[in-house]
Amino acid sequence: MIIKVLGSAAGGGFPQWNCNGFHSAKVRAGVAGYRPRLQSSLAVSSDGANWVLLNASPDIRQQINETPELQPVKNGALRNSPIKAVVLTNADVDHITGLLSLREGQPFSIYAADRVLATLESNSVFDVLAKDKVRRIPFELNVPTRLEGAGVDLGLVVEAFAVPGKVALFLEKGDASGNFGSREGDTIGLKITDAKTGKSFFYIPGVAEIDEPLAGKIRNAELLFLDGTLFEDDEMLTQGLLNKTGKRMGHISVSGPDGSVSALSQLNVKRRIYVHINNSNPILDENSEARKVVDASGWEVGFDGMEVRL
Ligand code: MLT
Ligand code: MN
Repeated sequence: MIIKVLGSAAGGGFPQWNCNGFHSAKVRAGVAGYRPRLQSSLAVSSDGANWVLLNASPDIRQQINETPELQPVKNGALRNSPIKAVVLTNADVDHITGLLSLREGQPFSIYAADRVLATLESNSVFDVLAKDKVRRIPFELNVPTRLEGAGVDLGLVVEAFAVPGKVALFLEKGDASGNFGSREGDTIGLKITDAKTGKSFFYIPGVAEIDEPLAGKIRNAELLFLDGTLFEDDEMLTQGLLNKTGKRMGHISVSGPDGSVSALSQLNVKRRIYVHINNSNPILDENSEARKVVDASGWEVGFDGMEVRL
């Protein structure tokens, strides 16, 4: 199984278009120790020929242009694509809007939880993906599902499971007492298994906390890509960027007693990689103290173009 990080940044990317904050300004200026990052997406393949996108970011066109494996096969049909399916973990703008760039009549499958499919259904712009070509397939949570797309068995089995989190920002209703109207399936984690080798990994780009059920799932895993949005819960406030904590946004922080470094320290996950990294996160600076903390704890900071083979 081949896994590629297409975009390691959170919504907005790095630098974000309108952000002149400390880190965005540095990466824009080309300061050493910073690398630009596209928005949140991975690609996975069991055979190297047929690919599944895990989330479809607004940067998808650039991601395809920078990834030869995702481009039309040279001696193939006049129109062809190795991308046979897209799996969505939530309805974040950074995770669904890339679908709009996949129009043009190419067949593939979209897999997502009911709640996320309902969001696509209620936004008629997604009808550019004609349903007779692009099937929308609801996940039954906690049930392993064998992926197929464009008539091809993709050799991958996905188990989708609800994780602590929040409905997408643009769908929030009411106040925090109702967790903004969030329901099961608004945010899911994925366990992806290569049907042939039995090897598996977890992809959880948005999660509010590592609770007991989630800890139980990922314990002893070989590989995990996890929500690395923020280093400190209040860093958006202290940097003057946005009046919201990570908790308010439904994202666990990297540091602190409830953070992911601490929560994972006893779970024996062999390889741990941060993705969905926000432009405020000091780990984006390779020379920062925060980055040293992460490096010393055995975590890796995902980057665009990163490839992992399992
Ligand atoms: C998030 O991950 O919290 C969202 O992508 C935020 C957003 O939609 O800008
Ligand atoms: Mn996001």
